[in-house]
Amino acid sequence: MERVSGIGTLRERVAAARIAGHSIALVPTMGNLHAGHLALVDAARARAGFVVVSIFVNPLQFGPNEDFGAYPRTLAADLEALTGRGADLVFTPSVAELYPDGTDLATRVHVAGLSEILCGASRPGHFDGVTTVVAKLFHLVAPDLAVFGQKDFQQLALIRRMVRDLSMAVELLGVPTARAADGLALSSRNGYLTEDERARAPALQRILAGTAARVRDGEAPGAAAAVALDALAAEGFEPDYVSVRRQSDLGEPGPEDRALVVLGAARLGRTRLIDNVPFEREPAA
Ligand code: PAF
Repeated sequence: MERVSGIGTLRERVAAARIAGHSIALVPTMGNLHAGHLALVDAARARAGFVVVSIFVNPLQFGPNEDFGAYPRTLAADLEALTGRGADLVFTPSVAELYPDGTDLATRVHVAGLSEILCGASRPGHFDGVTTVVAKLFHLVAPDLAVFGQKDFQQLALIRRMVRDLSMAVELLGVPTARAADGLALSSRNGYLTEDERARAPALQRILAGTAARVRDGEAPGAAAAVALDALAAEGFEPDYVSVRRQSDLGEPGPEDRALVVLGAARLGRTRLIDNVPFEREPAA
């Protein structure tokens, strides 16, 4: 496994891997790697001859009052975790390497509509930062396959839309959310939780799963989501949203839509947690 921080060296190494006949997979991350990230690397390794993992805390996707400064940076531990896990190249650019003219870019990738709903409504500009950096990484690595976690369901939907709209030649793979034994979705931000909050945090997943069950049993999505918001508040969360959407495009579901997902975001103390539960609804009898 080699670590490179420069764009020129990255391109040289990827080109050499291609000439050697390897397909290329990219796993974009912001580091602070946990078992969920390592499952993405495993999925990439199983499908490609040369696996690139990027580690970059992307300033563009953090709002002015968000945790860019505090976001956990654990490069030494990340490199150790990746060693022997099947990554061939770890790309660790500096902010200046990726944004040589500063972060006030004249060109950004904006996925209209999808980037403004759900998490996008309370984090303006966040998804533009995500799609812009992911588009840059796709241009730099030109991967055949890129692997993302389904925990960030909306992020993956946006990236799928961007890839389709801009005819990018990359296959996308979403890997199911990795969870702790008590159901909490693994996330780098779980480290912000106090002991008491960590004990209460799995309620988010339980409540979203309950919403999915209610909709499966025939309750209207809006009514089931309202129950979830109350349940979250009763558990000490400050809910942002709970919403039932179509899996395919995150649109509001009609009665004929079967493949749905419950998405939710809520604050617990200073930590904003997100989760989702994809599910299938039976056709109405
Ligand atoms: O999911 C993440 O960690 C980030 O949003 C990503 C995709 C690496 C872009 O910075």
